Amino acid sequence: MTTEDILKLSLDMADLKEVPADTAVYCPGRGIRRVLAGIDIDGAELLLAREQGFDLALAHHPGGGTAVLRWDEVFVRHVELMVRAGVPEDVAQAAVEEKLFEDRIVGQTRNYDRVPALARLLGIAYMNIHTPLDEIGRRRMAAAAGELPSRATVADLIAHFRARFGEFHHALTEIQCPVGGTDNRLGRVAVAHGAGTNGGYPVAKAYFDHGVDTLIYIHCQPSVVRQLTREYGVKGKNLVVTGHIASDSVGINPFLDRLRELGLEVIALGLVGP
Ligand SMILES: [Fe+2]
Ligand SMILES: [Fe+2]
Repeated sequence: MTTEDILKLSLDMADLKEVPADTAVYCPGRGIRRVLAGIDIDGAELLLAREQGFDLALAHHPGGGTAVLRWDEVFVRHVELMVRAGVPEDVAQAAVEEKLFEDRIVGQTRNYDRVPALARLLGIAYMNIHTPLDEIGRRRMAAAAGELPSRATVADLIAHFRARFGEFHHALTEIQCPVGGTDNRLGRVAVAHGAGTNGGYPVAKAYFDHGVDTLIYIHCQPSVVRQLTREYGVKGKNLVVTGHIASDSVGINPFLDRLRELGLEVIALGLVGP
């Protein structure tokens, strides 16, 4: 297989037509048989991959180049997800503006070629697949949440996720409900994932103000939790935070299994097993 074949497979599994801006092949490769896959691939992992005879180092998070510089383009996916959940388009658009503004400016600080340059020097194929795998994870979580009636509680959702996904069962992190409470009814649920990173306060607020009762993020800043709790209290609205590495693994594992079915040897580094 080539790095292009592997990229195409991820797009197909996520039903995406184009390569998202946060996904890239930094060092193309062909005849790939052994893959080292991790959420973050840095210099140490590249050296390990090279030393142990892997053909490809496959990361989830962006490792450099335009995938770190232009990744605000995938943050806009939050708008699509919000609109699908019933948020008016102008409100959804306004909810992402500040983060887009910040990221465009912060992008200037990035040492964007550090890891790709190392891969080129080592002569090892190196790529990352971010949004396609998060989209696979989002769909799996949304489907699981959809299996519960709206009168179910947040505690039921957490129990269901733990039963349904080995990743949540095996992870060292717990699924938390830092805004609202586990005794609350679920009501309408939305999974805001697969859009670069979590949507912070403005995106959560847009969901809560337009009919969503329980919002799922995979991670969340403490200041956002405080702000949402101040605004919505503990009674109606719930923010469920499923845990970064466990939730990334929910999207990555089915893809790695598919690569294995196609005959590749895949060693996963630092993922939570299914
Ligand atoms: Fe992810
Ligand atoms: Fe992640």
